[in-house]
Amino acid sequence: MTSTPTERAPERAQAQALLLQILDPANRADPYPIYARFREHGPFLAPKANLAVFSAYRDCDEILRHPSSSSDRLTSTVAQRQIAEGAEPRPFGPPGFLFLDPPDHTRLRRLVSKAFVPKVVNALQPDITTMVDELLDTIAENGQFDVIRDFAYPLPVAVICRLLGVPLEDEPKFSHASGLLAQALDPFVASDSESDDLVEERMRAHRWLRNYLRGLIERRRSRPGDDLMSRLVAVEESGDQLTTDEIVATCNLLLIAGHETTVNLIANAILAMLRHPPQWTALGADAGRAPAVIEETLRYDPPVQLVGRIAADDMTIGDTVVPKGDTMMMLLAAAQRDPAEFDRPDTFEPDRGTLRHLSFGRGAHYCLGAPLARLEAAVALSAVTARFPHARLDSEPLYKPNVTLRGLSALTVVVS
Ligand code: HEM
Repeated sequence: MTSTPTERAPERAQAQALLLQILDPANRADPYPIYARFREHGPFLAPKANLAVFSAYRDCDEILRHPSSSSDRLTSTVAQRQIAEGAEPRPFGPPGFLFLDPPDHTRLRRLVSKAFVPKVVNALQPDITTMVDELLDTIAENGQFDVIRDFAYPLPVAVICRLLGVPLEDEPKFSHASGLLAQALDPFVASDSESDDLVEERMRAHRWLRNYLRGLIERRRSRPGDDLMSRLVAVEESGDQLTTDEIVATCNLLLIAGHETTVNLIANAILAMLRHPPQWTALGADAGRAPAVIEETLRYDPPVQLVGRIAADDMTIGDTVVPKGDTMMMLLAAAQRDPAEFDRPDTFEPDRGTLRHLSFGRGAHYCLGAPLARLEAAVALSAVTARFPHARLDSEPLYKPNVTLRGLSALTVVVS
């Protein structure tokens, strides 16, 4: 194996300590100095854990596009070992296609992608505008708002429920499950550090959400609606392209993606602009600036901080060799502040021009919801800045414990 600096024992111990710091909730508010130190170290290999961690833009970009990068966790050496020891391979049925490789990934993605093409998404704009205006009316009455509870969370949730055909009145029940399942995307969950109670609670949430979706799907069979779930049921009934388990897994994936990502884009952009007030004023005066603010927020403070892949073959990334079966963790949030790729990477600068961030991933698994997330954020951010030109922060931001889907739990803003 080619030698890299972090394979030497002292450096490896240091990189391991940094990894633990990333996982530490105390660092959630500002993990960026830790990411910077990670980047300075170069790729970190933990052969005993069958793990390689990458933080340079060039490496993350290459792995995401690499034909030997697998998204199916079952192909990992660690999973294979657990299966050999008696673990059930997929206790909850097939995973969402985010965690599948071709041909299943290709087939399922193709079926769902029709619901997310720009023409379909753009048709949602009037509804999204109405929802945003209603939320802003309530905020205006109160004179202040919690960015998550009163604005950034209700909007994407209502939109994904409408798209899928999930009744919004059931939302409180599944928002709890969605939150727990989002945590399951963190590295090393279900490791020894987690309490049995938490693992059991997450398993219960998983079972509950799947049963809930299964019930809705059954109802769509007799009474189809004009929604994605009904269309998937129609595909299933027209042939053998899709099983009920696959519809459940797909709706589960979309529901969680709709609940746990766009909220953080909207909230992170509000926080960044209120910390740079001229940006808030400029967007309020010119809605055409929304795409620049959104793309820079995605780079500067991304809602998805890391993604994973499994090496389907021995792979060489830069001068690092990753053995077949090892898990590769890509710290996107570190890569997007890589000075080798971006000038002044730690500065929030919406006017920096075209940027090739990795926030929606790259390659075969590129985010299907990107046009929807961009539209929701553009409507929400241009409206809130125009309506409340004198908004200001009134609290320190509080963060959820999540590492991968990092985001605020609360942030008070005064608008009058
Ligand atoms: C700002 C908001 C969002 C961000 C930052 C984001 C980020 C990402 C990223 C990084 C990936 C690739 C993961 C990987 O390569 O392993 C991804 C995939 C995906 N996203 Fe998003 N996402 C967002 C919003 C949404 C929304 C609103 C939806 C749909 C409701 C959605 C649906 C999906 C799906 C279905 C995939 C899997 C694509 C595939 O495997 O082919 N995303 N997203």
